[in-house]
Amino acid sequence: MARSLVHLKSCCSASAFRASAVDSQPGRVRIPDKARNARVLVLGGTGRVGGSTALALSKLSPELQIVVGGRNRQKGDSMVATLGKNSAFAQVNVDDMVSLERALEDVDLVVHAAGPFQQAQNCNVLEAAIATKTAYLDVCDDTRYAFLAKSFNDKAAAANISAITTGGIYPGVSNVMAAELVRAAKDENKGEPEKLRFYYYTAGTGGAGPTILATSFLLLGEEVVAYRRGEEIKLKPYSGGLNIDFGKGIGKRDVFLLNLPEVRSAHEILGVPTVSARFGTAPFFWNWGMSAMTNLLSPEYLQDRSKVQELVRLFDPVVRAIDGIAGERVSMRVDLECTDGRHAVAIFTHRRLSVSVGYSAAAFVLAILEGSSRPGVWFPEEPEGIAVEAREILLKRASQGTINFVMNKPPWMVETQPKEVGLGIYV
Ligand SMILES: NC(=O)c1ccc[n+]([C@@H]2O[C@H](COP(=O)([O-])OP(=O)(O)OC[C@H]3O[C@@H](n4cnc5c(N)ncnc54)[C@H](OP(=O)(O)O)[C@@H]3O)[C@@H](O)[C@H]2O)c1
Repeated sequence: MARSLVHLKSCCSASAFRASAVDSQPGRVRIPDKARNARVLVLGGTGRVGGSTALALSKLSPELQIVVGGRNRQKGDSMVATLGKNSAFAQVNVDDMVSLERALEDVDLVVHAAGPFQQAQNCNVLEAAIATKTAYLDVCDDTRYAFLAKSFNDKAAAANISAITTGGIYPGVSNVMAAELVRAAKDENKGEPEKLRFYYYTAGTGGAGPTILATSFLLLGEEVVAYRRGEEIKLKPYSGGLNIDFGKGIGKRDVFLLNLPEVRSAHEILGVPTVSARFGTAPFFWNWGMSAMTNLLSPEYLQDRSKVQELVRLFDPVVRAIDGIAGERVSMRVDLECTDGRHAVAIFTHRRLSVSVGYSAAAFVLAILEGSSRPGVWFPEEPEGIAVEAREILLKRASQGTINFVMNKPPWMVETQPKEVGLGIYV
């Protein structure tokens, strides 16, 4: 079935569509002539994640027209000055449908990075994208929001637009890593995928904006959904601690259960019976702090956005001060175990989350512009969202600047301290 070519509203180029299999120049992307000077609106472009996405896009594909969207003109102008030519600012409030639809009128693709997504009551940006026939990507990290977005699949397909939800670094690139592990296991025909585990580590806030702090607190108010042998189970947030080896550049870190959308999407789409996600941070006492919050504050309190904003105001200065010492390293480890005992690992480690998240979201934008997605709303691991043959180039673009990026290796090859079971055999 044909994939959707982004129908450009902004560009009058009549040149033929040509998909690029491989980027010709390192650090630069050759995107199809038809989409080369597409207009991309980045909502939340004045924030850390949106700003990083806009910068990565302008580096990877300088001919793209980038519109930075936000409520604050001063911050917008400063971002436009950083991006240089081919950029502009648009004043948009994502809670105001009229301003949204106006901003989307003449753009080809909108990136929604104006979180938090937790406890949001609607999918305004996606609805405006469907109404104005604009391709869509969000960096959502909330299960309820992501599945609400997915419920617009038929409307997006009818409007002939491609939309991807949860297309950041994690979730986002981690979903594609998981999908590739599952594909490789099936291709090798060595048993059925049985257990899939997402492990994430980010030092401090990873250099992200204040919204990430609100996101973390709101997530602590959500019961964790995981899957065990096909059954959905509910667990306490920030429980089930494990000490995981993230390999070169990170080493062993404590990680705890969190409610993340890739657990449900990977379980349903990739068909793996046991799936969970854990997250850990540094310095170690932040993990204690997160755990203490789940014990001391009620879920109702942690689900209240205005109360959480007060907590953010209280904690943000302390967190920022400690961020200076903690750094902002990020690492994702995805483990797949199969029925025959085969255990494969993928690892992605970068010194700076605030840079890497931008390349990750930009990789999804470019995949959509290149026509790798069909009309509809998709998760990153769905082949209709990111075509199987487009995954390699997406991972290559997203992993720019990583200090460790490995796919489909046994644990002993990637861990800093592999376990020896005897006779020089490592597991
Ligand atoms: N999937 C992933 O890999 C991933 C990774 C990290 C973060 N995230 C998510 O990304 C989101 C952004 O994080 P961040 O660190 O970039 O936060 P941030 O620095 O605080 O930025 C948030 C941005 O959203 C804009 N915004 C907020 N409310 C808005 C509204 N009503 N209308 C228009 N713009 C609005 C703000 O702009 P103005 O104040 O100027 O309007 C700001 O630019 C969070 O929800 C976080 O959970 C996802």
